[in-house]
Amino acid sequence: MAGSSAPAGTTDTSPPPSDGDAELRARDRRHVWHTWSPVSADRSALTLSHGSGHRVWDIEGRAYLDASALNSTCGYAHPRVLEAMAGQAARLHHADLSVASHEPVGLLAQRLSGHLPPGMAKTLFVNSGSEGFDAAVLMAVSYWTHLGRPRSRIVTFARGYHGATLLSRSLTVLPRNEHLLQAPLPVTHVELPVPAPRVRHPDALPGLLAAFEKAIGSDPDDLPAAVVVEPFLNVGGAVVLPDGFLRALRALCDATGTLLVLDEVFTAYGRSGRMFACLREEVTPDIIVSSKGLTGGYLPLAAVTAHERVHDTFGSDPVIGGLRYGHTTSGHAVACAAALATLDVLEQERLPERAEEQGAALLLHLAPLAGTPGVTDVRGLGLITVIETDSEERALRIHARAQEQGLLLRRIGTAVVAVPPLVIDGRGVEELAEGLTEAVVRTAP
Ligand SMILES: Cc1ncc(COP(=O)(O)O)c(C=O)c1O
Repeated sequence: MAGSSAPAGTTDTSPPPSDGDAELRARDRRHVWHTWSPVSADRSALTLSHGSGHRVWDIEGRAYLDASALNSTCGYAHPRVLEAMAGQAARLHHADLSVASHEPVGLLAQRLSGHLPPGMAKTLFVNSGSEGFDAAVLMAVSYWTHLGRPRSRIVTFARGYHGATLLSRSLTVLPRNEHLLQAPLPVTHVELPVPAPRVRHPDALPGLLAAFEKAIGSDPDDLPAAVVVEPFLNVGGAVVLPDGFLRALRALCDATGTLLVLDEVFTAYGRSGRMFACLREEVTPDIIVSSKGLTGGYLPLAAVTAHERVHDTFGSDPVIGGLRYGHTTSGHAVACAAALATLDVLEQERLPERAEEQGAALLLHLAPLAGTPGVTDVRGLGLITVIETDSEERALRIHARAQEQGLLLRRIGTAVVAVPPLVIDGRGVEELAEGLTEAVVRTAP
């Protein structure tokens, strides 16, 4: 699959790789501090140069099918998004939303509320999912202060992941997320009652709900401000939750007035097979945080959309009557323009529906792998496909083998995960299925 020529369906119009590749890599090793990486890791080993659609090329001209980009909706170099960004940058690249406004931010906030359940009408824009969680938790805790019944405890999955800032990372107890500072809020963590591959089965639902019910509790002096969950546990092991979980969790929250905060940083904008995963179960959250696919990765942007009933309590804030939170670049005009263009593509090309169809086709192709030695489960949601293996070492081998073949995947613990851009076509899906199958079979014990 890998090669220096452009595979069918894509055009490589870039200049040939320069002689400076070694220097480029050496510079990276000397000066770049890579995110979430051991200092000994050499991330320059895969130095990417340019992309088109679902394909990306490294600096040596090797082509890869990119099924590793968590935020990719429109794929690489989508002309519509490029044009929108350039046009907005030339007109007005930025205005500080604490003193002024601009057209794209209003259009985008309106557009998001049109896709969300009624009442989800107020959006705060920030730059990353992590910042989104800092803001969402602040909103939830402020809401209770405004009602005159303070609550600050948060209930969440032990294997949830909501970000890397001090507050957002305090919500998880995933390994490698601990930090040296004290958690700013009390958090109750809910463990999965069964191993990850079994969670999606209907018989896991009662145990899961019982665990959340216990964590919420019934002591009027210790009720949580909010339950914070992802509809699919991404970093926590690529775990698919059972059908009906979100709806039942909404009812559990309602019983004590607890707010439901959904983390759709990863699942929103088509990845789950719907514009938002909560629409699968017709659930209305109190706050929803979305990011990655919002601009398809073209620029950093996250949206914290609150229900009017949460937002409207802020009028009673005794100090400034509003949210005491924001960033200089919140709601950046070029990022909003990129998001509007991304939404145009998502809607016009029916990418959420296509993600559902392509994901089902991919799972059908890959289902036989469940019988391969070393593979313990094959599962998926929308256009997220997961191969669970019996060890981290095997998952690493599959991941590395796929890369040698020209297929970029993600690895989360013992799972190998394929997340291609939502614009991938049927031929791309077949190529992905064949590449993944080959990588699994060639590395089988
Ligand atoms: C579900 C989920 N929530 C929150 C985050 C944090 O987002 P960011 O990396 O943009 O801060 C991530 C990032 O991977 C995520 O997958």
